[in-house]
Amino acid sequence: MAHPNNDIIPTLDGLAYGGDYNPEQWDRAVWDEDVRLMREAGVNIVSVNIFAWAGVNPGPGVWDFERLDAVMDLLAANGIKADLATSTASPPPWFSQAHPETLPVNAEGVRLAYGARAEYCPHAPAFQDAVVEMASRLAERYAAHPALAMWHVGNEYYRSCFCDLAADAFRAWLQERHGGLDGLNDAWGTTFWSQTFTDWSQVLPPRLCAETPSPGLVLDWQRFGSDALLKLFRSEADAIAERSPDKPITTNLMVTGNFSHLDYHRWGEHVTGPNRLVATDHYLIPEHDDDIEAPAQVAFGADASRGLAGGSPWLLMEQSANSSAWRKGYFAKRPGDQIRHSLSYVARGSEGVMFFQWRASRYGAERYHSAMLPHGGTEAKSWREVKEFGARLGRIAEVKGSTVVARAAVLLDFESAWAANTPGQPSAHMTTYPELRRWHAALWRKGVTTDLVNPAWDLSGYEYVLAPHLYVLESDANLRAYVEGGGTLVVGPYSGIVDRNDHVHPGLPGALRDLIGVRIEEFAPLAEGEAIGLDDGSEGRTWSEAAQPIDAEVVASFTEYPSTGALFRRELGRGEVWYTATRPADLEAFLTKVGVEPDFPGAAPNLELVRRRHEDGRSYLFAINHGTEPAEVPAEGDDLLTGRPWAAKGILDPGETAVIRERS
Ligand code: GLA
Repeated sequence: MAHPNNDIIPTLDGLAYGGDYNPEQWDRAVWDEDVRLMREAGVNIVSVNIFAWAGVNPGPGVWDFERLDAVMDLLAANGIKADLATSTASPPPWFSQAHPETLPVNAEGVRLAYGARAEYCPHAPAFQDAVVEMASRLAERYAAHPALAMWHVGNEYYRSCFCDLAADAFRAWLQERHGGLDGLNDAWGTTFWSQTFTDWSQVLPPRLCAETPSPGLVLDWQRFGSDALLKLFRSEADAIAERSPDKPITTNLMVTGNFSHLDYHRWGEHVTGPNRLVATDHYLIPEHDDDIEAPAQVAFGADASRGLAGGSPWLLMEQSANSSAWRKGYFAKRPGDQIRHSLSYVARGSEGVMFFQWRASRYGAERYHSAMLPHGGTEAKSWREVKEFGARLGRIAEVKGSTVVARAAVLLDFESAWAANTPGQPSAHMTTYPELRRWHAALWRKGVTTDLVNPAWDLSGYEYVLAPHLYVLESDANLRAYVEGGGTLVVGPYSGIVDRNDHVHPGLPGALRDLIGVRIEEFAPLAEGEAIGLDDGSEGRTWSEAAQPIDAEVVASFTEYPSTGALFRRELGRGEVWYTATRPADLEAFLTKVGVEPDFPGAAPNLELVRRRHEDGRSYLFAINHGTEPAEVPAEGDDLLTGRPWAAKGILDPGETAVIRERS
């Protein structure tokens, strides 16, 4: 569960602006230039000590805080705050050499060598102890430091390990989840292929085996991996909270979909509420996103982060100023994109904008990753835009603490996303994140701001709830309550199919059948590029189902096989539920058909409009013109970016942005 918190970094004046700062890579003389340029760019916070374990703790029992003290003092002297990291995402060689059992083993059983970052086994006691000691020592030393604004635990938790220590921890976790071996055998369906366990010692992580592994095993392994990393995060966070009780604690999550190793909803209560905050990294990855335009990708990341925060403000902890080191050949941001994207994150609830990283590294694996201050220095486009955006952010500081107004929600269940990716699926192309991204992008194009939320939460505040792909579902109770209460629910195909153990519900789609009033006879996946026609003139792609109404109106049918209903509508209580038995090829037209209205009817295409509102009613309309035509912005008030009044129907030029404090 997410807990509300509208003041996520209390000691920071205004919105956060900065990035990862790695002064350990530079001579002392460069640091002075760094802080001078930071001030010039409006940077007010930097993440330090992210990967500096080897400096603070250069050998067993050896501690040296001299450099970190100097960095923190320098920041404080320049009025720049620190997001102080614990550095535990990257143990140095001495540690791995002294504790070889902490090096991760992959699914093939190969123990990896040290030499890069994140080289650890989350289940190794020596590593678990070391990170708590590190966090404790840092918290003791810096809790009262004037530069300290917040704590940053680890970095992008994702590591898994298949070693014997992991196997032991996995068995203990399984015993807690399933009770005895009978429970485990049932849950994994081990009678299939005669894989019944008769002793716990037979239970293994999903190490490489000859054929398709058990989907139940794969799914539980993912749950276990997420829980193990959460435990690691909590061990550090608890050690810090004990010693530094008044400062927020976070870690940089990847709820934006770049990594899907964590069940973020299980993490939710530990990264929301008093002195906690949701912080996420977001890198745009075009090949993950079909033909989704960059601003819609930005919106997806932001809406997922805000969703996890339960609607509270959150923080964009990392983005790239330009290209990413790991995306060879990709992609110079077009002039102005960085500014527009950055403002969109803020429009969508981020309390600032941070980058990886402040100054481009001269060496190391990420020497060609872009930075706020690139190799080209202050002459480069990235820098000019960084400076320009810093100034803009300073002018809109009063939005801090306000929240985003969203009329629609898209349901995102992380377990469901894992389960839909387990081996042996009927289609390789019905997977959750891509499906959600497509629907979300269609909503973005229509001008509908959406929260990406947990299907188990209270949905009653939303006009529309969309469930593009909810593969795992135990019960329809929450969705039913939403519909009966007057909501419009739109459900995508291949939803409600399995239970939490990935067992197919009898009578498809088991958990949704009664609610949608439709039964599915068979799946009929489509080949790549194949289309299926509907009698309303639209088309479906990728997937179809032979579906029949039980208690629903057939709004459109397939024109050939499966020749039964394709789009269904059912009125229930004060609301209605729609079900589509194929993926609509034109999702925007589909949304129109099911009655989804834009937030600002008549707004120009590619004009992004998002409203943030304070509890006392003060509201701000963020307007970002991603298009090539001037666009009319439906607001009256003052544009905080230019200081000029904004008349009703004021025009925003192509590429431009405005943040209008609205006259009530
Ligand atoms: C991640 C990491 C950073 C850096 C960037 C580069 O987000 O947290 O340390 O590697 O990727 O894109």
